Amino acid sequence: MKTKYWSVDKNVENEKNYPQIHEAAMLLRDGEAIAFPTETVYGLGADATSDAAVAKIFEAKGRPSDNPLIVHIASQSQLEKLVSDVPPIARILMEHFWPGPLTLIFPKRDGVSAKVTAGLDTVAVRMPDHDIALALIAAADVPVAAPSANRSGRPSPTLASHVQEDLEGKIAGIVDGGATGVGVESTVLDCTGAVPVILRPGGVTKEQLEEVIGPVLVDPGLESHVEKPKSPGMKYTHYAPKAPLVIADGSTSFVQALIDEARQEGLKVGVLTTAEQKGSYKADQIIICGKREDLSTVAAGLYEALRSFDSTDVDVIYSEAFPQIGIGIAVMNRLVKAAGHQVIKE
Ligand code: TXA
Ligand code: MG
Repeated sequence: MKTKYWSVDKNVENEKNYPQIHEAAMLLRDGEAIAFPTETVYGLGADATSDAAVAKIFEAKGRPSDNPLIVHIASQSQLEKLVSDVPPIARILMEHFWPGPLTLIFPKRDGVSAKVTAGLDTVAVRMPDHDIALALIAAADVPVAAPSANRSGRPSPTLASHVQEDLEGKIAGIVDGGATGVGVESTVLDCTGAVPVILRPGGVTKEQLEEVIGPVLVDPGLESHVEKPKSPGMKYTHYAPKAPLVIADGSTSFVQALIDEARQEGLKVGVLTTAEQKGSYKADQIIICGKREDLSTVAAGLYEALRSFDSTDVDVIYSEAFPQIGIGIAVMNRLVKAAGHQVIKE
């Protein structure tokens, strides 16, 4: 399949001036899978009301069919067709955080495709805070199911070129809106029970949620290795670069000692570090990911940093660990998964 490519200015003031968005929207309506930017990562969208369209997402990504998709909407009126109930807490959250990187789990309405929900009786919905995404969904005039636009298991795409690397020839089109902002995916929050539960940490932090709605729980499945985390996607290996990744949780001298040990064994070693600490290492590849003093910059650069090791010849990658506060929780969640839970503590 030939993948169409449209480049669109991020500041879409009047989407009617953008024939590219209109063309992409018509392909979406026609049941094609189209990649587009959001404020978190690029999504691979398809008409959520069409089983055949949704099947193209799973096919292109190589995604297991038991992993449900997030439905993206551009207006509150689209929500009513998807959900059977809006809990009061969800209303408050939507007012505060939509559009934005918060996905809410609702009881689903009859008729929402089981392909989208992977057979669950709930549906995940979010309104992205990105002019191009909103314009595209509005122009298509259908709810858009969209996982991250990477091959399953690869780091999520934060640039259109990442989507091309993974999906060129497998999807009908890519809308290039430049770099996404947040860099890690949305927070997934289940508010169908008495107390809201974070199923996946992401762009909206626990602290931000609690400021608005009070105490929030974290799915115990995120910490331990339970069989069945409530967010099915959290059980798969994810976000991984091609070389094995190990998190070295300790001082720079501890990280350097691990690097030295591997190099003595004849391995080529990469290190994932930050602006502040880059000068502390001697390794075969040093990749800088944001600034430690501002963890949102680490989030923004994380997937690109992981991908960039793939164009090097390193045999193993050591990454620094990050403080588990604010957005650092989402960063460490992704990093630990990318490392297949290989963490060495000082
Ligand atoms: O920021 C994001 O959320 C990006 C952009 C493209 O919007 N999308 C994204 O989608 O990260 P994906 O498919 O890579 O991750 C969706 C996550 C998975 O962990 C999935 O299991 C979970 O949401 N999920 C979807 N529907 C669910 C449901 N009904 N109940 C629990 N978890 C659900
Ligand atoms: Mg994903």
